[in-house]
Amino acid sequence: MNDSLSSLRCLIIGAASGIGLATAERLRGRVAGLVAADRPTADWKPDGVARVAMDVTDPASVTAGVQEAVGVLGSLDAVVNTAGVLGTVQPSTDESLEEFQRLVAVNLTGAFIVSTAVLPLMADAGFGRLVHFSSTAGKEGVAGMTGYSASKAGVMGLVKALAREYAARGVTVNAIAPGKIETPLISGHPPTDADLARIPVSRLGTPQEAAALIEYIVSPEASYTTGFVYDLSGGRATW
Ligand SMILES: NC(=O)c1ccc[n+]([C@@H]2O[C@H](COP(=O)([O-])OP(=O)(O)OC[C@H]3O[C@@H](n4cnc5c(N)ncnc54)[C@H](O)[C@@H]3O)[C@@H](O)[C@H]2O)c1
Repeated sequence: MNDSLSSLRCLIIGAASGIGLATAERLRGRVAGLVAADRPTADWKPDGVARVAMDVTDPASVTAGVQEAVGVLGSLDAVVNTAGVLGTVQPSTDESLEEFQRLVAVNLTGAFIVSTAVLPLMADAGFGRLVHFSSTAGKEGVAGMTGYSASKAGVMGLVKALAREYAARGVTVNAIAPGKIETPLISGHPPTDADLARIPVSRLGTPQEAAALIEYIVSPEASYTTGFVYDLSGGRATW
């Protein structure tokens, strides 16, 4: 009976770093079971949580990783997919086709692969929470981030289509669109004064603030919002 946060069995993908890591730290001890997944090459030991290797660009790896997670947890109520890559910030004419395709493969196709691996399980169980990551780059577009912006815009369409398909079966599918969150993803791009001026809250967000929002979205109480893109930008994006 999934009637409280403490009853949930959760898988967090991209859990070796940043928002995924903070989410694992927040949910550990608050949910019934937790599995942390990241790339097979990720050099990390999750604290007190089972670890699974999973490359979201590889359907066989995702299927095997999901099966392993279900084996550990017994069932799967919530999946949070934070796996993402930013790529090099450069003019679109310098972005190679291979780089564009790599960004789409991880950020968008990876979200599709994860979705198709877990949503049927959730629908069969009559309950599920799936959360993917978009970005303000996907809403507004950022010059120099062509593949990244395009892939993150695609995530919004992905969750809206999937949400409609699964809405009647107790499963929500949502995305979060962060602005700038202090994680290793953006460590090579410290905020300029112009960046901060665009953020009404006047600071970067923290991975812990992202984790708090995720905790709400995966909770059983969050049952009437699906196909939505939750903003996490300190007021920068108002839609
Ligand atoms: N930090 C920000 O400012 C920001 C802004 C907008 C959107 N986002 C999005 O939020 C999500 C989390 O970002 P973060 O800041 O925590 O980044 P991060 O770099 O700290 O963590 C991302 C994690 O994803 C994992 N990953 C990458 N490719 C993978 C793959 N193929 N398979 C499995 N795991 C893979 C990495 O190993 C890493 O542990 C990403 O989707 C990112 O695009 C972040």
